[in-house]
Amino acid sequence: MKKTSIAVLISGSGTNLQSIIDKMESGHLPVVVRCVISDRESALGLERARKHGISAYFVDPKPCGSRDAHEVAILEILDKHDVELVVLAGYMRLLTGRMIGRYRNRIINIHPALLPSFPGTDGYGDAWRYGVKVSGCTVHFVDEGCDTGPIILQRVNPIEPDDTFESFRERGLKIEHGVLPEAIRLYCEGRLRIEGRKVQILPKE
Ligand code: GAR
Repeated sequence: MKKTSIAVLISGSGTNLQSIIDKMESGHLPVVVRCVISDRESALGLERARKHGISAYFVDPKPCGSRDAHEVAILEILDKHDVELVVLAGYMRLLTGRMIGRYRNRIINIHPALLPSFPGTDGYGDAWRYGVKVSGCTVHFVDEGCDTGPIILQRVNPIEPDDTFESFRERGLKIEHGVLPEAIRLYCEGRLRIEGRKVQILPKE
């Protein structure tokens, strides 16, 4: 199968990025990670990328002056690497219409809660403080809203009586590391069909 060129956008530790790289290198994911882009210079994920010989960029939002200008700079990098699919893996910025328009239905995001519950930047914290008994994570296509795009996959993470916030989050991250590559694989296999809000998963040929 032809490999899909992807870019991974991050803001932090990059454990989801690592799971993609590991599955790519072991031949379990038909992708080539062409570049990793971060809006934070200190993001550990940049180091992870470089260790694996992947082009890693810090695109500083400050000198850009606006979200739009920041995205122009990111789009230049995506163009340079001929990227087909953009994966947001812990990227903590809302995208504007510019980027979404250019990559319509070709940007996916992992969110650490069962959307539409607890959107935003602290899915684990918000779910934990609310006291839900079941949480989870969601992989979805990105649209103009905040975590509102059509849902590809969701996995549950039940909260046990003896959980601490750390044990809840740690288990959740492990689940994320499985479900994000799974969604990417479905995309690569051409098995995702968007019909309005719904994403149909087509059977394997
Ligand atoms: C993950 O839990 C991801 O779901 C979350 O950030 C974390 C990044 O971890 N994303 C969001 O909250 C997006 N709104 P990582 O850098 O170790 O992959």
